[in-house]
Amino acid sequence: MRLAGKRAVVTGAAGALGGVICEHLAREGARVAGLDLDPVGLDAVAERVRTHGVDAWTEAVDLTDFEAVQAAAERLIAQWGGVDILVNGAGGGAVSFFHEMTYQTWSTQVDRNLTTVFNVTRAVLPSMLAQRHGRIVNIASVAAIAGGRLVRGATAYAAAKAGVVGLTKALAIEVAEQGVTVNCLAPGAQATPGRDNDTTERREALLSQIPTRLLGEPDHLAETVVYLASPATVNVTGVILPLDGGHSI
Ligand SMILES: NC(=O)c1ccc[n+]([C@@H]2O[C@H](COP(=O)([O-])OP(=O)(O)OC[C@H]3O[C@@H](n4cnc5c(N)ncnc54)[C@H](O)[C@@H]3O)[C@@H](O)[C@H]2O)c1
Repeated sequence: MRLAGKRAVVTGAAGALGGVICEHLAREGARVAGLDLDPVGLDAVAERVRTHGVDAWTEAVDLTDFEAVQAAAERLIAQWGGVDILVNGAGGGAVSFFHEMTYQTWSTQVDRNLTTVFNVTRAVLPSMLAQRHGRIVNIASVAAIAGGRLVRGATAYAAAKAGVVGLTKALAIEVAEQGVTVNCLAPGAQATPGRDNDTTERREALLSQIPTRLLGEPDHLAETVVYLASPATVNVTGVILPLDGGHSI
């Protein structure tokens, strides 16, 4: 029970990785608040969290909406008194080749993958600073550090996720003396249900670019989140950790 009594917020909680992260945090004793666009998915995750004997709180909210996020965080903090752990997992890519990309596609990708991180972190950070303790784990992508080699047409996604990398490092420095750590995972392709429809050729093309020839396991990623949220990493901050089987070497 490395996180007994801790209060965690997970964005993208209804998603493939977010749900697994919520469960791993709950298994270690943390209460979990899930934020996502998808209310049905949030209900299912809350149920899984409660089976571990901890409190679950959810709110369906568009995390690109600054005011709505502030309001949701205020409601949560009024109830829980503060937040110890924030996992910024909401996001997702869209394939669009740069020479034909619309402004709408660009701004949607930046909003979904970077502005959401600003909005939620901005809403939660003051409570962490007030208590002089907090753990922020951002989920970027290998695309941020190795371009979009796994998926062509990912420039907007890669740029937004690279923004998350920059935000992680700059914020880590800004809050380091106040007991708040800020770290970032840069996952490669994960074995989430979204990959189940890959053709054999598509799967081989992916694996051929990954030295270990393995997709990432969501359970392993979630364990890394738990580690970065745990007391063992009090002196670990500003780290960008690729979970990509060596793809970005
Ligand atoms: N799955 C992978 O292979 C992989 C690889 C690298 C990085 N990532 C990153 O990991 C994170 C989780 O990925 P996943 O595979 O679980 O994706 P997913 O699509 O299953 O989950 C993403 C979740 O984010 C939510 N979301 C998106 N925009 C939102 C918004 N504006 N407001 C509220 N919620 C919003 C979606 O509703 C969804 O539930 C994403 O940031 C993704 O970019 C995933």
